[in-house]
Amino acid sequence: MEILHVSAECYPVAKAGGLGDVVGALPKYQQDAGHQAKVVMPMYRTKFLYNNDFDVVHKGYTNIGDYFFDYTIIKEKTNKLGFGLYLVDVNGLLDREKIYGYDDDVQRFTAFQVCVVDWIASWQFKPDVVHVHDYHAGLIPFMLQYCYRYNQLASIPTVLTIHNAQYQGWMTWEQSTLLPPYDEWKRGMLEWGNSINPLASAIKCASKVTTVSNSYLDELKYMSNGLEALFEYEKGKCVGILNGIDTQVWNPETDTYIKHDYSLATVEEGKAKNKAQLCETFGLDVNKPLFVFIGRLVGEKAADLLPNVIGDSFYYIGRRMNFLILGSGEPEVEARLNGMMPLSQNDYSCYIGYNEGLSHLMYAGADFLLMPSRVEPCGLNQMYSMRYGTVPLVRNTGGLRDTVKDIGEENGYGIVFNNASVGDVCNAVWRACDLYSDKSLFTKARAQMMQLDFSWETSVQQYLALYQSLR
Ligand code: ADP
Ligand code: GLC
Repeated sequence: MEILHVSAECYPVAKAGGLGDVVGALPKYQQDAGHQAKVVMPMYRTKFLYNNDFDVVHKGYTNIGDYFFDYTIIKEKTNKLGFGLYLVDVNGLLDREKIYGYDDDVQRFTAFQVCVVDWIASWQFKPDVVHVHDYHAGLIPFMLQYCYRYNQLASIPTVLTIHNAQYQGWMTWEQSTLLPPYDEWKRGMLEWGNSINPLASAIKCASKVTTVSNSYLDELKYMSNGLEALFEYEKGKCVGILNGIDTQVWNPETDTYIKHDYSLATVEEGKAKNKAQLCETFGLDVNKPLFVFIGRLVGEKAADLLPNVIGDSFYYIGRRMNFLILGSGEPEVEARLNGMMPLSQNDYSCYIGYNEGLSHLMYAGADFLLMPSRVEPCGLNQMYSMRYGTVPLVRNTGGLRDTVKDIGEENGYGIVFNNASVGDVCNAVWRACDLYSDKSLFTKARAQMMQLDFSWETSVQQYLALYQSLR
């Protein structure tokens, strides 16, 4: 089968979070399973672009509203990522340093999608399925079906994967002129709540919709940032497929980001060395358990709780542990975390920013990973941490619920709590400290987690079966 993935992110080309990891891995494993997988994404100005060679495969001319422009599709020459990587170059609009966060993001991502559809129209043979990810590619199912210019593409099956329904890409009706001319009778297929809602449009127009865990799919029916009724209505075409992890990139035995690789047999020693390196770098006490948080410092991740969790843990449990935070996001949270640095007694530090290498070292060197997320469609961090023998402390929600079993249950290995509240997280920290003191239980939990199978194999088969059902 020929599968075209359309996404705003793809690791290692450009990544802001888990979307990038998934789109960098799923196509590779689909290719390994004997299919032809391609990824098309915007050509940002990234290191990957400058350090690799590309061929021009298509040149086109199109428009968003009255802005007409040339675009170019380039392809990475060697297929080094394990699938065909295609980048859309639109001078001045897409070739920027950041992925998101510009005032003209609506124009940028609309232009990207128009170019992708225009490019597909030039293919001699059509792809078997166009698989779009999140709202940045959400207008494509509509365009394929209802834009006059592309009506020869209307029969191509489409799959939408929702990685995060919080972000929907809302546009005003004035911005509808950015789209190629479409059948006005179908404007309802663009709309939700009196505006153009690209995510809602994709839910309505795609042949099938997937979410990145089963529990998240259930939650969307009562908590999806305004789309609850739509999920209820469209539930027949929605299915949960749990993400896997790229075990070639996330493998403590071969991880090129860490100095001290280790396996299950050498986990004690290996983790101790990585922890020592981390503690030395950040001025932490290596003899205490190390709790880390890695992620976007936003409300969804309950990052706003961290300062009080750290303060209250020190106050009520005692200064028996270290905390190390890596992330960036809401300025108040960043400021509070930075502001706590002078209060550290060799037991707290933070790194505000994005650092891929440091994240790997933290998964490898930490004892515990904090994930108090209010919303977590799947979550990859907890799966990475378990593969690296780091016990996750997670809230009982979304993909966290589907992947972490509490140590109190039979064959459990993690720590699960119910509320995104300072009290619940502190209580989980307390339980973790107890677990840390129980050497044999801690070692058993580690060994159990490291042997769990979070590879892509099962999910790849589920996606392939889904595509087959559309042919
Ligand atoms: P989300 O996509 O919602 O941010 P996930 O758990 O799916 O959450 O994936 C987050 C990914 O981004 C992981 O690979 C994590 O290690 C990475 N990550 C998040 N923040 C940072 C950061 N500041 N530095 C390095 N990696 C980060
Ligand atoms: C999103 C979600 C996260 C998920 C990731 C990859 O960013 O917030 O939970 O793991 O996408 O699917």
